[in-house]
This record gives sequence, structure tokens and C-alpha cells, in this order.
Amino acid sequence: MNIKKTAAWDKFTSRDITPEAVYQDRRRILKQMGFIGAGALLSSQANAGVFDLFSSDEEKVAFLTKTLPFAKQAQYDHLLYGALTPESKIISHNNFYEFGTSKTDPAENAQELKVEPWKLVIDGEVDKPMTLDYDDLLKLFPLEERAYNFRCVEAWSMVIPWVGFSLASLLKKVGVNSKAKYVAFETLFDPEQMPGQRNRYTGGGINYPYVEGLTLAEAMNDLTFMSVGLYGKTLPPQNGAPIRLVVPWKYGFKSIKSIVRIRLTDKQPPTSWNQLAANEYGFYANVNPEVDHPRWSQASERRIAEGGLFSAKRIPTLPFNGYGEFVADLYKDMDLRKFY
Ligand code: MTE
Repeated sequence: MNIKKTAAWDKFTSRDITPEAVYQDRRRILKQMGFIGAGALLSSQANAGVFDLFSSDEEKVAFLTKTLPFAKQAQYDHLLYGALTPESKIISHNNFYEFGTSKTDPAENAQELKVEPWKLVIDGEVDKPMTLDYDDLLKLFPLEERAYNFRCVEAWSMVIPWVGFSLASLLKKVGVNSKAKYVAFETLFDPEQMPGQRNRYTGGGINYPYVEGLTLAEAMNDLTFMSVGLYGKTLPPQNGAPIRLVVPWKYGFKSIKSIVRIRLTDKQPPTSWNQLAANEYGFYANVNPEVDHPRWSQASERRIAEGGLFSAKRIPTLPFNGYGEFVADLYKDMDLRKFY
């Protein structure tokens, strides 16, 4: 396996690649039209013609999001297998069924998602239940930038520079009590904003709200990350704004987006894809090249790069997506074929 250590951070932002005069001119026009304010999001009803001002998705995202302060955290960089995926791919090839089931639907349909105000409730088996608002999410913890391998169960993958904080730091803040064994997560339920939640057909059959779960030990692992941004900016709506989970050794469907509730519980919580097809999607969903999906092999993956999915190079999939040294111990007594 060719493990490449990537000098990930010297990437251009859209700001860098757009001549300053053009950038300033677009800003001026958008400001006049009332589209630039404190983190103002463009409404897709009002955006006709406005998005034409941007020559790329990255430029659009640069206007839709805020720049974040963060410290680079290179502790896991030696485990990256491949260069960072271009931002243009990360923000245009998405799974977010609340906004449609095709890969391009979320980038098109999610721009109206209102992230401010936002409420994230942390409750259940905790000493100090908490409700965080949008500003808390960005300010409660020092933000870190971490690049992780990201492997979808559909056998495509990316390398994504997330910005956020470890879930463990949040759990320590609320004080997990001795009854807690699992952590349950829930996405916003708002069919007005999320067309996929209006009927089972457009929403891919999921029983919304989208829910996910981890064992407490998985949740406390330092790799388990609450992301509030990527490529140095707040999350674009299609990637799960304003806050999502990232569990890099598990298939991407565990990385639940746009979270409104985190609940500590004594019982294993239900999870959306498991409810939909239990024989295909387990609770654990650890990346495992030796356990195939019933309908396709998991031995390799298509790494999305400049050219997109169909020109993507096939590379071997690694156990635990390359993070075995940090997580294999969590499953040492488990039959991973049974607990898939
Ligand atoms: N979270 C919610 N709420 N709804 C979804 O449809 N899709 C999951 C996961 N989180 C999903 C979700 C799947 S299948 C994947 S692969 C990742 O989000 C995709 O994340 P990305 O679009 O940022 O690449």
C-alpha cells in the first residue's frame, strides 16, 4: 500500500485563485443585493442569477460560509492514504437524503437550510444537560483542523480536512454518568426545509429524523470528531451544517449531519440505515475489506480526485479505514463478521 504523507495545507482557497478585483466586485454586488451579512445564507428562491456570479462551487461556498480560526492537528496525518480531495468535490458529491437521493441534490437543494439560530441538546445519562446555540458550537472548544480518510459504504472515498473538536471534550463537559453505555445522535427534523423528509420516496425510504449511534467507548475515542467546518470554513449546508459527526474508521453513514440532539443512553440506539436494511447496514459499520456488502465488494474503493467518481482510481480498502492502531482494541473480543 502506497501511504503518501500529504502536505495537505498548502491548498488554494477560492480567495487565492480569484483575482482580487473580481472577488471584491462580486462582494460589492452581493452586498448591494443584501446577500452578505453576518453569515447570511443565500436562499435558493432568491438566488436566481446570483449564483451566476460565481465561477465555481468553491466561490459560492466561500460566500455562504465563514472563515474559522483553528489549530492544525497533524497527529493522524501519517494515516492518510492519498492527497486531500479537492474542495469542489467534497461540496458537490454528497449523501444527504433529506435533500434528495442523488449525489448532486444536496448541493442544489440544501442552500436554504437555516443554521442560525441552531439548538443542539445534549441530555440523557449526563450530570449537566446542555443546550448549545450556534455561537457555542464555534466557540465552546478550541477548534482543530484534522484531515481524515472518509470511506462511504458505497465504496467511494475522499480525504477531507475537517475543522472541529473531539466528541470526548463535549462529553466531558456534560459529565457522562455511570448508566451511560451508548450515545444516540439525531438530525434536524424539518420537512419544510428538508424536502426529502416529506415523503418516503424522495427521502430514500428513511424513517426521519435520521438517527445514529455509537458505543460510549467509540464516542470517547479521540478520533471521533464533531465537525463544524471543512477547508478552513464553516460547513456548507450540503456537508451537514452547522455541526456533524465524523467517525473516520466507520462507513460514512455513521457520520450523521446537522445534529440537534446527542443523548446518552443505557441501550443501543436505533440507527437509520440499520432500520432500513438490517442485513446490509449494521450498528458497528467499521470499514472492513473482508466483509462485503451483500450487493458489492468492500475490498477496494474509488478515491475521488479532480476527475470525479467515474475517473476515480480504485485503491485497496484498509481495515478500520487505516485507523486500526487507534481503534482495533475496541473490538478485540468481537466477531467482526457478526458485528458488522
Ligand atoms: N446524515 C444525514 N442526516 N442524512 C444523510 O443522508 N448520509 C450519510 C452521512 N450522514 C446522511 C448523513 C452518508 S451515507 C454519508 S456517505 C455521509 O453522510 C456523506 O457525507 P458528505 O456528503 O459530507 O460526503
